[in-house]
Formats: sequence, C-alpha cells, structure tokens
Amino acid sequence: MPNLSGKHISYWIDSTSAANFPPLSDNLSVDVAIVGAGITGITAATLLKRAGKKVAVIESRQISTGVSGHTTAKLTSLHQLIYADLIKNHGEDKARTYAQSNQAAIEFVAKTVTTEQIDCNFSRQSAYTFAETEDNLKDIEKEVEAALKLGLPASFVRETSLPFPIAGAVKFDNQAQFHSRKYLLHLIKQIPGDGSYVFENTRVEKVEENNPCQVITDKGIIQAQDVLITTNIPITDEGLFFAKTYPKRSYIIGARITEHQAPQGMYIGSGEKYYSIRTTPIEGGLLLLVGGGGHKVGTVENTEEKYLDLENYTRSRFGVDTIDYRWSTQDFVSFDKIPYVGKLTPVSKHTYVATGYSLWGMSQGTLSGMILADKILGIENLAADLYDATRATPFVSPQGIKQNLEVGVHWVGDRLKGLNKSLQDVAKGEGKLVTVDGDKVAAYRDETGEIHAVSAVCPHLGCVVAWNSGEKSWDCPCHGSRFNCKGEVLHGPTVKDLDKLKIEAMQLN
Ligand code: FES
Repeated sequence: MPNLSGKHISYWIDSTSAANFPPLSDNLSVDVAIVGAGITGITAATLLKRAGKKVAVIESRQISTGVSGHTTAKLTSLHQLIYADLIKNHGEDKARTYAQSNQAAIEFVAKTVTTEQIDCNFSRQSAYTFAETEDNLKDIEKEVEAALKLGLPASFVRETSLPFPIAGAVKFDNQAQFHSRKYLLHLIKQIPGDGSYVFENTRVEKVEENNPCQVITDKGIIQAQDVLITTNIPITDEGLFFAKTYPKRSYIIGARITEHQAPQGMYIGSGEKYYSIRTTPIEGGLLLLVGGGGHKVGTVENTEEKYLDLENYTRSRFGVDTIDYRWSTQDFVSFDKIPYVGKLTPVSKHTYVATGYSLWGMSQGTLSGMILADKILGIENLAADLYDATRATPFVSPQGIKQNLEVGVHWVGDRLKGLNKSLQDVAKGEGKLVTVDGDKVAAYRDETGEIHAVSAVCPHLGCVVAWNSGEKSWDCPCHGSRFNCKGEVLHGPTVKDLDKLKIEAMQLN
C-alpha cells in the first residue's frame, strides 16, 4: 500500500471546533423538521427561524461534517462548463433562471456574512474554467458566448496567474470563496431557543407524512407540520432520487504555499481529466487546495492512487514539497444537470427534498435552502419551477439509462465476486469480499489482526458493496451508500448499517 502524505481529515473540519449539540432526548413538536445539517438545511433553518417558525434541525452525526464539511467551498455560478448545454437542452429562459438563481445564492451568502459579521474567510474571487490544450478550446469559447447571452459576468482570457500555460479560459468576475464550516457553525448557533432546536447524533429512520408529519428517529419522534429532507441524497426512497442521479466521489489535498507561488482566483480544468484549484488563508500563510480524481462510487478499489495523482500534480505544477491534508467527498450528479428541489413526490403535501447538486453544492445548496424556505412560507420564488423535484425525469436520457443499466449489472454480477475467497485471504488493514457458509461477507482485518465481518449486501436495495482502500470503507456501486470498515452507515441513501454476521470463532483466524 502506498504511503500517503498529509493528515487524513478535511481542513475545514480540522480548523474548527465541534458544535456539540445534544441528541434528541424526548418527543417534541415544531413547525418544520429539517433532516440533515449541511448547507441546505442550515440555510433553510436560518430563513425559517428569522420568519418566526419553530424548527428542529436533526443531524445523524455532527453539524456540517458531511458533504458541506468536505467541499472545495467555492461559491460560484461557473459550474465548469454548463451554460451552452443548458441552453441547448433546456432553452435560454431556463438556463437564465439557473444562472440568476446561482448568482443570487452567492449574494445571499455575501449579505449574510456582512450583516451577521461572520468570520469565515469570505472573499470575492474570479472563477475560471480553463483548457490546457487547443483541443478543448472550442468548448470554452462556446461557454463564454452562452454565459454572456444569459447576462453572466463572463469573459474569455488567455492569461491567468496559474504557474503553467493554458490555451484559454472562461472567467467569471465577482464570485466568492469562504470557509464553509465557519459560516455554517455561525448560522446553526442562532437556531436553538424560542421553541427551535438542533440535535446531533440523532438518526432519522423514517418520515411519515401525516397531519402532523412524524419524523421517527433512533432517539424519539418529532412531530412537524412540514419536513425538509436535506440530506445529500434523500433518506426516503419515495421520489426515486437515487435513480435520477448517480453518486460521484472526488478527492482533495491541501498543501502550504507561499504568496509568491499561489494563484489568484478559483480554477477548474476541462476535458476528461481535470483538477480544481483554489487557496485559503491558514494560520501563518496560505493553503493550496487541489481536487480531482472523480469517479462513480464503488467502482475504484485502490483509491490511494487518486490521492497520489493529486500529490504528483500539485508538486509538479506548484513546486510545493509537503502535503498537509487529504480528504475525499461525494455528491450526486443529476442526469439533466439541474438539482431537484421541492415536493418529495407529486402527491406530497408537507415533505420536501433537495438533491443532485452535481458537485456545486455551495451555491446550489444555498439556493435550495432559499427555495425550500420560500415554499414553507408561501413566498413566490421565480426559480422554484426550474428545480421542481417532481418534474418529468430523464430516466430516458442516455446517461440515465446507462446508469440504471449499470446498477442492474452490479446487482447481478457483483454477487459472483469473492466466491473463491475465505477470511484467511484477508490481510491486515485490508477489506475483501469473501464467502462464509454460502453468505457473501464484507470482511475487514484491522491492524491487530481482528476480523470485522458484516453482510456484503447493501440494506438499501440489495446490491453488493465494494472495498475502498483509501478510506477503509465499504461503498455501494448502485446508489452510493457507504459504510465504515465495521459496517456502520456513513452516507445515504440507506439509514441502516450492514448486517452483523455471527461467524464461528474458528473461522475468524
Ligand atoms: Fe442502493 Fe446500495 S445504495 S443498493
């Protein structure tokens, strides 16, 4: 196994303290229950509480330690290359609404930071999508043309402050970056009181729409007039959002860099293989953040290679010696490139969702929180129709068909993996699919030699999980549920752990 550099933790989490809210300890009633304390849930909670609603924010682990704690924290409407496609596939009016709503999200954060004086390293920056070779230049030029047509602050440039030449880039002015967790921790601390609550370490197991709705957790029941499910992918299967998106993992490393070496602005490449680049202030200097290595969840076992690739790129392109941080994250990509925000199903009256941010969750999560709050408050939001979560869905898009066919292939084919392997084949620090008494087992042997064996069958819809060596986790290739090496759930759509198996002591060696 390669030796990876840097602390294995998100810089945003490492540089902030835990919020330490209590778990739910008694049943209670509120106006709005919000499941999931990332940027969407916290934005909605902030707006709803300001409007006089009593809210309960319920987080299965700790505030903003999921996707919102593992982001690149860029606030931009420049989503790599999207506007030429949006105009072609959805028309100019819808593309303009997408552009304006993402710009509005940036301005919402900017205004919130100013009015609440939030110390979160917010700074205005230009955002760039660059092509390194002439091959991808046509797409850049098309994007500039599309963005200008929509009224976005776009221009074409050939020069940037990156320390390597590019063929050209689309540049958006007056975008922003921030420390996502400092921002969210500030906002969440305003929520408790006057009948509102925040609960950590409280897992929502089920949401029943009723009058009132019942939010059933592992610690008790919360009744609410309305429920917002703002987990990265909804934890309820109604609405089938797991089949309208696909789950993608990506990787980030952080390395100290001098002012002199550091690029100005926020960058992302284009083409098949690309990298995301920005800096953030850190005690005593700057931290360069380089992201990339995206792949569908559960399709790469040796994920250390993804970190190594980022290291090599960062060292060779920016001349840094030491890598300080590394972490990975996950998001759900919407097949039609537009997030799903609104009612859970066409017949839902009080249950709402937001998902499918396609790796642009800081602006899309903010605008989703704004739309959801407006829906509860009965305020007209001009972007709501575009994002309608119950819109006719693109199961029939080539990407949607391919993804759902691949799920079928995994469901059947993965059952044959590990048929010839036994627990003895699992080395220390390694996870393997093995067969024990005919059961498909996900087995991890820790550094002391102890085996942790759980069922390899994902409790969501029954696909077989795959080992992820860089994170020591079991990842489901079908819809992106993830579990730690002991089988405890890390990421939905499932809310259940992998089943513990009773294995005879003599088989465990
Ligand atoms: Fe759906 Fe595993 S996440 S089957």
